[in-house]
Amino acid sequence: MKRIMLLGATGSIGQQTLEIIEQYPERFELFGISAKTNIETLLAIQMRHNCNVVVMDEKYRHHFDGKFYNLDELAKCVEALPKDVVIVNALVGSVGLEPTISALRGHRDVLLANKETLVVGGEIIHPLLKRSKGRIIPIDSEHSALRECLKGRSLNDFDKVIITASGGSFRDYSREQLEDVTVEEALKHPNWSMGQKITIDSATMMNKVFEVIEAHYLFNIPYENIEVLIHKESVVHGLIYYKDGNIMTHMGPSDMRIPILTALQDDQLLAYRSFFDLAKIGMLHFKRVDAKQYPLFDLGIAVAKKKGMHVVTLNAANEAAVDLFLRKKITYLTIEKIIYDCLNRFDNNVTLTLDSVIEHDREVKKYVYEEYLGGG
Ligand SMILES: NC(=O)c1ccc[n+]([C@@H]2O[C@H](COP(=O)([O-])OP(=O)(O)OC[C@H]3O[C@@H](n4cnc5c(N)ncnc54)[C@H](OP(=O)(O)O)[C@@H]3O)[C@@H](O)[C@H]2O)c1
Repeated sequence: MKRIMLLGATGSIGQQTLEIIEQYPERFELFGISAKTNIETLLAIQMRHNCNVVVMDEKYRHHFDGKFYNLDELAKCVEALPKDVVIVNALVGSVGLEPTISALRGHRDVLLANKETLVVGGEIIHPLLKRSKGRIIPIDSEHSALRECLKGRSLNDFDKVIITASGGSFRDYSREQLEDVTVEEALKHPNWSMGQKITIDSATMMNKVFEVIEAHYLFNIPYENIEVLIHKESVVHGLIYYKDGNIMTHMGPSDMRIPILTALQDDQLLAYRSFFDLAKIGMLHFKRVDAKQYPLFDLGIAVAKKKGMHVVTLNAANEAAVDLFLRKKITYLTIEKIIYDCLNRFDNNVTLTLDSVIEHDREVKKYVYEEYLGGG
């Protein structure tokens, strides 16, 4: 029986993880759950699973009988879990970093959907992974795909990897058309049904920058050897070009329950019915990312290569800007403006530690809210 602490249980990945857990009660037990504000959904999960541990804002403590932690104690909660409990990190944003580090320090496996963890903390986590008996197992379709293609092969065996991008909600829009797009339009992803932040990140292509960073740290691949192709069908998720000329590719439907199941199941494969008919799909298209259409992609990759606090600034500016856009406080194109502004404004030559990352993340976000919202 695998016991699971599900961080972000009420979100898109959290809910799909629950579906898998509930499909296999003989294999998985939900040990603990967390959410930020969605009390109704968390209570419903608690009714069904009677979890040992709940993490949420202090004001909801009276709803729960068992062990309860306040939201700012996520890392402490992870640290105190029994040794066999694995973490599914389905939080959104840099808040996912501390519990991941706490889990790895405690030699636990982390099944990681929260890509911002590796974006802001990759440089801290990379050496930690060498010391920890815990592993990071990706719950992201592209990285799960690469992991499947790599099975039985060494990292020295390939020349390059390709991850694909759908192009997001505005892949057929001109720059002029982007000037007055709405939040509702931005949230209509053509292929995937996901949480709000990642849907906007897909439209701006920042999500793909984050995934390149994720791949760099997960598989130890130099940035020069990671390519991105726009593939509007979202059928091929990852490709590996082996040195001997063979190219391994991974295909599958746009269904996150497959990478979730893959991360959870270990060596004994579990059954999952997926409806995937290549004949119906008919054609697959691939093209390079157009820098004019997606200026944040080239910018983001350049920042990723600089490493250090530059990437923390990029992520924090993006998180705050996307939040403001979702709250209809700024236009879609102001997301770009805010990111450029923050990258120019902040001193990024600071030594990277967990504390300095958290502090810098907070400062950048504070600046964005003050400057673009008047502090709200
Ligand atoms: N959705 C996908 O298909 C997909 C695919 C690949 C990777 N990912 C990655 O997986 C992560 C989760 O994405 P998602 O789409 O599932 O997000 P989501 O639907 O927005 O869910 C986020 C979860 O985190 C909780 N949360 C939000 N802010 C928090 C905070 N400050 N402190 C503690 N908990 C907080 C939310 O609680 P409340 O519900 O109470 O607000 C919710 O449970 C992201 O990093 C995303 O990039 C997602």
